[in-house]
Amino acid sequence: MNPTAPWTTARLRALKGREKIVCLTAYDFATARLVDESGVHLVLVGDSVGNTMLGYANTLPVTMLDMLSHTAAVARGVKQALIVADMPFMSYQLTIPHALANAGRLLKVGAHAVKLEGGALRVPTIRAMVENGIPVMGHLGLTPQSVQEFGGFKVQGRTAAAAKELLRDARAIAKAGVFAIVLESIPAKLAAKITAAVDVPTIGIGAGPRCDGQVLVIHDLLGLGGDWKPKFAKRYADLGAAAKAAIGEYKREVADGTFPGPEHSY
Ligand code: KIV
Repeated sequence: MNPTAPWTTARLRALKGREKIVCLTAYDFATARLVDESGVHLVLVGDSVGNTMLGYANTLPVTMLDMLSHTAAVARGVKQALIVADMPFMSYQLTIPHALANAGRLLKVGAHAVKLEGGALRVPTIRAMVENGIPVMGHLGLTPQSVQEFGGFKVQGRTAAAAKELLRDARAIAKAGVFAIVLESIPAKLAAKITAAVDVPTIGIGAGPRCDGQVLVIHDLLGLGGDWKPKFAKRYADLGAAAKAAIGEYKREVADGTFPGPEHSY
């Protein structure tokens, strides 16, 4: 296999049980290019764009227009990774034709697949998408679009009944045709059980080490999310502090006349 060949859903599925799948969010051209050039398998244009880039408290206000604009920007920066675009709140819940039309719009601007939240309830929509050539990634556990129903961002699947339901949901959407499933904020043991029970890769975020892959929100990884640091996220750099220091230095140099110097002047 050509090592620079683009990642497809089939190639990613084939990694299950062999190699960990590395996923990261991106929302713009410059970041997507960095993520892609770093060899990440899958770039998720998450509806977390609402929190990270648009300043909302949750993902509910994110619109199809937001997702189309950010997906198109990411697609311009990616050469190899698989691009998955989130379907925003109420873009796939109303009717199957509405969901198909919205998913199609995301593919037309450069997504290779879409992601939607929910379990057995979503089976007819997932089937219709897959039958019409639209690859789908599932998302179970702490599905952020249900934050109002959950009463906050709480770990899911803690009781025996809830764990059983999540396992049933994972089996149902895998059978309906999703090519991978995000498992968010569930006990690590349950994630391991689901991973063993389905033949598609599971991608964990706050779901322990025994998923087939991991995903993080890039702002959490790079330290760009301010003081917000969820327990499951690891901060690999503090670019927020580095950016503030650089901006402070620029401000000082403008104030004292050091910038622009002769080398910056015509
Ligand atoms: O929107 C997003 O970034 C996501 C990840 C947290 C999986 O759905």
